[in-house]
This record gives sequence, C-alpha cells and structure tokens, in this order.
Amino acid sequence: MKRRTVLKGLGASVATLALPHVARAESSAVRIGLILPMTGPFASTGRQIEAAVKLYMQRNGDAVAGRKLEIVLKDDTGTADVTKRLAQELIVNDKVSFLAGFGLTPLALAPAPLATQAKVPQIVMAAATSTITEASPFIVRSSFTLPQATVPLAEWAPKNGIKRVVSLVTDYGPGHDAEKAFKERFSADGGQMLSELRVPLRNPDFAPFLQRVADAKPDAVFVFVPSGVGAQLMKQFVERGLDKSGIRLIGTGDVTDDDILNDMGDVALGVITTHHYSAAHDSPENKAFVEAFRKAAGFRPNFMAVGGYDGMHLVYEALKKTNGDTAGEGLVAAMKAMAWTSPRGPVSIDPQTRDIVQNIYVRKVEKVGAELFNVEFATIPNVKDPVKAAKG
Ligand code: PHB
Repeated sequence: MKRRTVLKGLGASVATLALPHVARAESSAVRIGLILPMTGPFASTGRQIEAAVKLYMQRNGDAVAGRKLEIVLKDDTGTADVTKRLAQELIVNDKVSFLAGFGLTPLALAPAPLATQAKVPQIVMAAATSTITEASPFIVRSSFTLPQATVPLAEWAPKNGIKRVVSLVTDYGPGHDAEKAFKERFSADGGQMLSELRVPLRNPDFAPFLQRVADAKPDAVFVFVPSGVGAQLMKQFVERGLDKSGIRLIGTGDVTDDDILNDMGDVALGVITTHHYSAAHDSPENKAFVEAFRKAAGFRPNFMAVGGYDGMHLVYEALKKTNGDTAGEGLVAAMKAMAWTSPRGPVSIDPQTRDIVQNIYVRKVEKVGAELFNVEFATIPNVKDPVKAAKG
C-alpha cells in the first residue's frame, strides 16, 4: 500500500518533469469504433457512411493534434443485439475513444448505456428518432431528427392546396416521430388527417396500405420510410395506379434518398420532400464534396454520407480542442456549440440537446442532365429538433 503511494507520487513528478517521454506515450493512435449495417437490408447506409468517413480522412489527413486516427469498422448487420456486443468489445478490447455510426434507431439506443458507463462519446451519424440523444449524455448527433425534417413539410402542405392527408410510415421510432410531427402541425394549420397507417420495418409489403390510401382519396399521402426502402414503395405506388390517381406523394427526404432516386425513374418526378441534405445542394462546399465523393467511392452521396462526414468533423475538431486528450467528458464538451459549414449548409451542435441545428430545405424531384435530383427551392434556416425545443 505504502509502496504504491510512493510510486504514484513518483509517477506524477516524472510526468511533469519528463514531458517529451509523456508526449510520446500519448501519441499512440486514437481508435474510432465505427459500427454500421454493412450487410442486410440497410447495407446502403453502411456503404454510404463508410465511404464518407474514408473521404473525410483522405481530405483532412489521418492524424489530429499529433495523434494518428484509426478506424475499426464493424458490421452489425442491422441487429441491435449485435451492435451492443460490438460496442462492448470495441470499448473493452480495442480501447476505442469514440463509438460512431449507428444506422437505425434501435442500433443507436442499444449501446447508449455502455457509452455512459465507459464515458466514451457516441457519435450518431444516421439514426434520427428525437429521443436518441436523451439515452446518454455522451451521445452527439450529426444526422437529423424526424420532427426537424417533418414540421416544415406539414407547414408547406396546406399552403399548397393539400388539405386532406393520409400518413403512411414505417412502424418504429422515426416513423412514429414523423407521423406525430406531421399530424400536429398540419392539423393546427387547418389540414385534416384522414388516417394514419403503419407498415412493418422488416420485409414491408406496401400494397395493402397503398390500397387503403387509394380508397381514402386524400389530396396527398405523407410518407416516411427509412433510407433505402423508397424505391420499393415507389414501385408499388405505380403498380397500384396511384401515380394516375391524382393523389400526391409527399414525405421527408428519406423516401427520395439520393442513393436510390435514379433507380425510381420518372415516376419520382415532381415529388415534394423536406430534408437537410440533397446532393444537388448549391454551394461550393457541396460541389467539392460531391465531386470528391463520386471520384473516391464511385457513387453519389446521400444524406447518410453527409451525416458520416460531419460526424468525422466532430471527432477531428473535438480532438483539436482537447489537444489530443481523449477523456470523454472533455470531448463531448468540445463538441457542444461547435459550428461549421457542412456540405449541407451551415450547422451547429445545440449545447443543450447535443443534436444538430441545421437548415431544412423544401425540394422537388427534377431531372438535371441525365440524373434525378432533389432540387431545393425553399430554405427554413437553423431548425432545432422541435420536440426538445417544446420541452424547453
Ligand atoms: C432510424 O432508424 O432512425 C432511421 C433510419 C433511416 C432513416 C431515418 C431514420 O432514413
């Protein structure tokens, strides 16, 4: 006992006297555990975010504050139990200083208690249910929230001849958030919800739900489906003849995701959505980002990619602020109130909620050259997650 105390005392004085030695010891690599669905139905999210993380490192170098960064990529296959086990292994065995990724809400929630316990920042790059950041004080989000993306559409619709709506959402966190946010604002602004339909997350068959939409004859169907699923919804929309029925399809931009939009074909033309990112966003930062991304990855970035890219920005800038110190509290503190220009436009981290504050754009699918794009035509600036803003 006595000897330990003496040694500890000695250690402290050595640390203060022999700085070069300590600096060398500290310059070991900083590991980032990146957990993504690389296989399974949500693999497009994993592929997009992995490519974005690589691009960020390619453009910004693989060292920060004198420390090399190492990505440890793990495939959770889109299964929450696996995400949790991988997070545990990354913390205990790989000694990661950050956890990052998280392609779906259940995958972001599962490891949150581990992040809290180990005091490891958890950067949520994709998942978008409002409550996620409340699951751990170590969560910081670089994606978006569904209420944040939905409320501007619920405001746009009644001003643009859409008075009667059926909603159709995937039956889990973000779908419930979208349904509620749309209904509340649309009803408050004089719109009428005819019915609220929910489709399963796993192996969805939209046909019976679209039939109910057709029978209700609304002005529009408001949809939320997670990234990657929109093409199937659009195909069944056409198969049911809804494209010829005069019923408009509106939604958050998840449905016309840039990753799959070109595969949907001309049926998608004219679809109005609201979201935080379009590959067609007109800014010098985005032009450079899209060009570099296409060149490096061989495909077009979607909103998942920009969540991954900005998540890496948080990691780099936090490490710069702490001068390479990886203590979790200091890193999260460094991320709070951080503001920068993303490929999506100006963004910042809300220091109260650790959510991203960003512009939401109203967009219309148009053909630009040989490709379909979500062309932005109106901007709602600096939108906070409205659910947490209302809680105060
Ligand atoms: C989610 O599960 O939180 C999620 C996934 C895909 C999206 C949006 C939200 O496009």
